[in-house]
Amino acid sequence: MTIPQPHDDPATFWEAHYAKMTKPSGGRPSAILVRFADGRRPGRALNLGCAQGDDVIWLARRGWFATGADVAESALNAARQAAQQAEVSDRTHFEWHDLGVSVPDGKFDLVTAMFLHSPGKFDCVAALRRAAEAVAPGGLLLIGSHGSRAPWSWAVPDTVYLTADDELAALDLIRSKWRNLFVGPIERVAKGPHGQTATVTDTVVAVERH
Ligand SMILES: C[S@@+](CC[C@H](N)C(=O)[O-])C[C@H]1O[C@@H](n2cnc3c(N)ncnc32)[C@H](O)[C@@H]1O
Repeated sequence: MTIPQPHDDPATFWEAHYAKMTKPSGGRPSAILVRFADGRRPGRALNLGCAQGDDVIWLARRGWFATGADVAESALNAARQAAQQAEVSDRTHFEWHDLGVSVPDGKFDLVTAMFLHSPGKFDCVAALRRAAEAVAPGGLLLIGSHGSRAPWSWAVPDTVYLTADDELAALDLIRSKWRNLFVGPIERVAKGPHGQTATVTDTVVAVERH
């Protein structure tokens, strides 16, 4: 088995990460997605770093046409299978992208990136700026990020995490074109790979395009 190394390119690192997984994902959507997207009028959605498709499938079940993009082909294949089992293949689409280089074409009413973190060669801010450009007028850009390190994380112990304000500033949005819905930290109890728990901070940027 290949052990993921922080200096690997994103595809190599994440393929090795998914190869280590012994169980499929739990099928649970991100709590941040549920909190900020539930009740929005369905349209076209884009989920960056979609992993095994839990958020895309949750959206499709609520009437969205949802596209997921990820650099790990094995995760995308698992997502396609899960969408088929959930009987939402006709409303889901999964595309391979190295998001440091490209994002799916088109405009979307909801663009989400949940914990789109990657060690090594990945310009996440450039990816999130492209994501912001893909938001249609009236649409929501929703970014959830780690604001603290869980004890089991692959991140190095002295990792410095951006605050939500820093993350929003890095996006360099034209302020007059966007309205802040929520920009700040949220605490939650996270579960590690062996069932261990810890209170962690997530940061949320939820901004709507005029
Ligand atoms: C920490 S996981 C988060 C997965 C999921 N969004 C969640 O909330 O559980 C990061 C995901 O982003 C993907 N990813 C990391 N770097 C990427 C890149 N450069 N291009 C596309 N996807 C990437 C990984 O394959 C992985 O599925």
